[in-house]
Amino acid sequence: MTRPHAGVARGGGYGDPMRSRRSCLAVPGSNPRFLEKAQGLPADEVFLDLEDSVAPQAKEQARKNVVEALRTGDWTGRTRVVRVNDLSTPWTYRDVIEVVEGAGDSLDCLMLPKVEDAVHVAWLDLLLTQVEKANGLPVGRIGVEAQIESARGLVEVDTIAAASPRLEALVFGPADFMASINMRGLVVGRQPAGYTEGDAYHYVLMRILMAARAHGLQAVDGPYLAVRDAEGFDLTARRSAALGFDGKWVLHPSQIEAANEIFSPSQEDYDHAELILDAYEHATTVDRRGAVMLGEEMIDEASRKMALVVAAKGRAAGMSRTSAFEPPA
Ligand code: GLV
Ligand code: MG
Repeated sequence: MTRPHAGVARGGGYGDPMRSRRSCLAVPGSNPRFLEKAQGLPADEVFLDLEDSVAPQAKEQARKNVVEALRTGDWTGRTRVVRVNDLSTPWTYRDVIEVVEGAGDSLDCLMLPKVEDAVHVAWLDLLLTQVEKANGLPVGRIGVEAQIESARGLVEVDTIAAASPRLEALVFGPADFMASINMRGLVVGRQPAGYTEGDAYHYVLMRILMAARAHGLQAVDGPYLAVRDAEGFDLTARRSAALGFDGKWVLHPSQIEAANEIFSPSQEDYDHAELILDAYEHATTVDRRGAVMLGEEMIDEASRKMALVVAAKGRAAGMSRTSAFEPPA
């Protein structure tokens, strides 16, 4: 199953941008002040949380706050997401029904946490379809983000990634994941004490990234909880950005600019990518050649594909090029 709007990771249609998710801001649905404040912040995505940042006694009021914030708030330019509770709780179905009936036309995606089986995503897809039909909303417009945050979820990640055409992103949840595998650490995002070689999260991040890319989805890294440790945030964000992740959660306004910068290409790389695309287009159409020199480098079809990824990320981030292509005389 493929989503109708193929994007960057799907290797085609790069003029058809996927939503930018460089920074995904977590906002507790039980806190009206934060729901208000989040509207002025430059995060690419804002997710209004009904799950772990909301106490059980506050769940019902949080649903109402979230509906109100979606309906009346100014979220221009932001991807609007609500994280519902996971399927082991009594709250999930009411979360979906109340939020979509109350504010379905002001919502881009639902995030489903603790996904452990493809059937969890299929359940959400079917329920969303019913609620959309019953409320005159276009069927299939609301996307889904699936959090992978347990050993079971990771083992099932390929089938989860294929479970619904509504899926847009796989999201790593390091806190729940650390608990799930008994990892010896309590500071989420940091390396566990005693692990001195390499990156303890490398396998998990790569596994999620492979499943995401194989199914044309985005991959988003989870939170870094030590919000005053800017250096630590920077380091972990740069790691997942280097692998190819599209963005990372941010828990505090101070992390937003850093994430936006880290998950955008540098100006130099962006200019270079656009140049490769123009030069290769010129080479294949005007000169009818499949491999040409661009300055000192040889470029071919594979270079075009790599350039496409960087250019699309830059365009989605609103970058403009600072140099123009000049065809060879
Ligand atoms: C996020 O949900 C996490 O568990 O890290
Ligand atoms: Mg979690």
